[in-house]
Amino acid sequence: MPTVAIIGASRGIGLGLVERYAGEGWRVHATTRTPERPGALGEVAGDVRLHRLEVTDRSEQRALRDALEDEAVDVLIHNAGVYGRGMSAAAVHRINAEAPIEVAEALMDAVLRSGQRKIALVTSMMGARRGSTRSLGKYGDSKAALNDLFRAREAGWRERGCIAVVIHPGWVRTDMGGRNAAISVEESARGIREVMAALDVSGHGRFRTWDGRDHPW
Ligand SMILES: NC(=O)c1ccc[n+]([C@@H]2O[C@H](COP(=O)([O-])OP(=O)(O)OC[C@H]3O[C@@H](n4cnc5c(N)ncnc54)[C@H](OP(=O)(O)O)[C@@H]3O)[C@@H](O)[C@H]2O)c1
Repeated sequence: MPTVAIIGASRGIGLGLVERYAGEGWRVHATTRTPERPGALGEVAGDVRLHRLEVTDRSEQRALRDALEDEAVDVLIHNAGVYGRGMSAAAVHRINAEAPIEVAEALMDAVLRSGQRKIALVTSMMGARRGSTRSLGKYGDSKAALNDLFRAREAGWRERGCIAVVIHPGWVRTDMGGRNAAISVEESARGIREVMAALDVSGHGRFRTWDGRDHPW
C-alpha cells in the first residue's frame, strides 16, 4: 500500500485525514507537536507512525526529513495552520505561509522517491485575493501569502518531478471552523482524499477545493 504524510494531525481535518487514509490501509506518517500526548491520534487503527513537528522549527523539520530517509512518501499533505486569534500577524505568517513551503521542501526527496509524488498544501478560500490588493485580515493575508509562495515555486517543483496543489478544505466543523460550519471533518477528508487520488500532472500548480473544483486566486 502507498504511504501518506499528514502534517498537523492532532485534531480537526488532519486527524480526519489520518483516519481516512489509515482506514484504507495506507501507511500514515502523522505529525503532532505532542507525540507524548497523542490523544485521539494515538487511537487511530492501522499503520500510523507518529512524529514530532512544530512546523516552524527548522531543527524539527530536519529531524522529520531524517526520520523519513528510508521512506517513500506518495502523498504529502501539509494541513497544520492557525486562525491566529491573539497572535501577531508575523507569527501567523510564519506558521501559515512560510512553514508549509519549508516542510514540503524538507520532505521533497521522500516524495520524489515515491510512485505518486503528490503534495497538497492546505490553504483557504479566505486567502483568495481575486485581483484586489486590499487586506484580507491576518488569516486571509497569511493564506494569500502561502498561495503566492506556492505559485513562485511550483514551476521548480514540477521540474523536480512532483505534482503539487494548494487546496481549500471547505468550511469544516473543527475547533477553527466552529460548530456551525458547513461540512464535517469526514466529508472534508473524503473530498481531499478523492482530489488527491484524481490529481495528475495536468492538475499541477492549481488552487483546488475539497469538492474537486478550481478556485480563483
Ligand atoms: N476548518 C475550516 O473551516 C477551514 C477552512 C479553510 C481552511 N482551513 C485550514 O485547514 C487546516 C486545518 O484546519 P482545522 O480546522 O483542522 O484546524 P484546527 O482544528 O484548529 O487544527 C489545527 C491543526 O494544526 C496544528 N498546528 C497549528 N499550529 C501548528 C504549529 N505551529 N506546528 C505544528 N502543528 C500546528 C494543530 O496542532 P495542535 O493540536 O498542536 O495545536 C492542529 O493539529 C488549517 O491550515 C486551516 O487554516 C480550515
